[in-house]
Amino acid sequence: MNLIQKLSNDDIAVTEKVKQDAIAQNVNVFLVGGVIRDLILDRDIKDIDFLVEGSALEFVKNSGYEIKSVHEAFCTVKVEIDNREFDFASTREEIYEFQGSLPVVTKVGVKIEDDIKRRDFTVNSIALNIVTNELTDPFGGCLDINNKILKVLHPKSFFDDPTRILRGLDFKYRFNFEFDSDTFSLIKDVIYRFNNEKLSIDRIYLTLNKIFSYDYSDKILEDILNLNIYKIWQKTTELQAQDINKLIYAREIFSVPEQNKLFISALESTFFVKPKFKDNYEIYNFFKKFNNVQLALYYFKTNDESAIEYLKLKDTKLLINGDDLLNLGFRQGEFIGIILNGVLKEKILNPDIFHSIQDEINFVTMNYSSE
Ligand code: CTP
Repeated sequence: MNLIQKLSNDDIAVTEKVKQDAIAQNVNVFLVGGVIRDLILDRDIKDIDFLVEGSALEFVKNSGYEIKSVHEAFCTVKVEIDNREFDFASTREEIYEFQGSLPVVTKVGVKIEDDIKRRDFTVNSIALNIVTNELTDPFGGCLDINNKILKVLHPKSFFDDPTRILRGLDFKYRFNFEFDSDTFSLIKDVIYRFNNEKLSIDRIYLTLNKIFSYDYSDKILEDILNLNIYKIWQKTTELQAQDINKLIYAREIFSVPEQNKLFISALESTFFVKPKFKDNYEIYNFFKKFNNVQLALYYFKTNDESAIEYLKLKDTKLLINGDDLLNLGFRQGEFIGIILNGVLKEKILNPDIFHSIQDEINFVTMNYSSE
């Protein structure tokens, strides 16, 4: 079975181009993870990412692709090929310094088998070499896809990254898969033994946000509540009678629709930490990824007035745009984004000095040079 032939014509063309560059440079390049799983399952493919056995940056530079951005910590590069953007990652090894921490990259350019070892489920741990068409499947992922089984690669997996439990629930309902019995026991173990003191809550938010957008999210929430999965990241679980009024109040302030099921469920499944904010720009940056439900819940849980302050900040918009900066003589590129962000920051910190587009232009010309 040639999996690449199942891609769209545009993706086949790009993959062929990358393959030729890989052959010319004698480098192995792979498709890996969700895309292989979805190809085997005959599902639609949203976008493809490439994994380079070696340095992705070196590979894309040598191939002459237009580089859009570089993520140093994870050694990934975003490039443009045929007017579309693609991510190129470097094979890497990672460690988790404590339960629920963000992974730290320890080695880049490792063999594909060593990269595969850091992944979540066997079904996501299959790589396809686009040069040789060979599959690397050290954990039997193909078999597990056929048997519709979700299995982690090692017993520490959920302690390293508990968002994998949420990802597993997503796959369970998306593909009609089941956890294998050992993996299910590990989930129960994590619920009761996880130390969430230093958990990276952002990852939980991001994953919850993603899965709450699916039409089967009700089922996932049922599991989160019935299996007590929310205890992994929630510190207090009790909802007192007097809290209800506060909750209704929060719902009004943040215009959350009354019947929003998400609101109730998210209440059970979200845990908030109150950070210290230095200024309004930090408030803006922290809350900009929250939807109204999360804002309301955050306020409800923390009483932090910063959430209300954010309502005043969130519609701060610039009157100038990239074209205006080009007209001022700045060159196309990353710097344009940096300047626009700088103006936005200033506008949030000192709204009184901006009344017109001219005020923004003046700020740019006084603080940035187009040379
Ligand atoms: N991955 C992981 N642990 C995580 C997140 C991701 O091991 N917490 C690995 C998996 O191998 C996964 C790959 O990184 O397949 C890419 O992750 P992502 O794009 O988030 O997910 P997909 O598996 O592609 O699933 P989806 O269809 O939801 O995008």
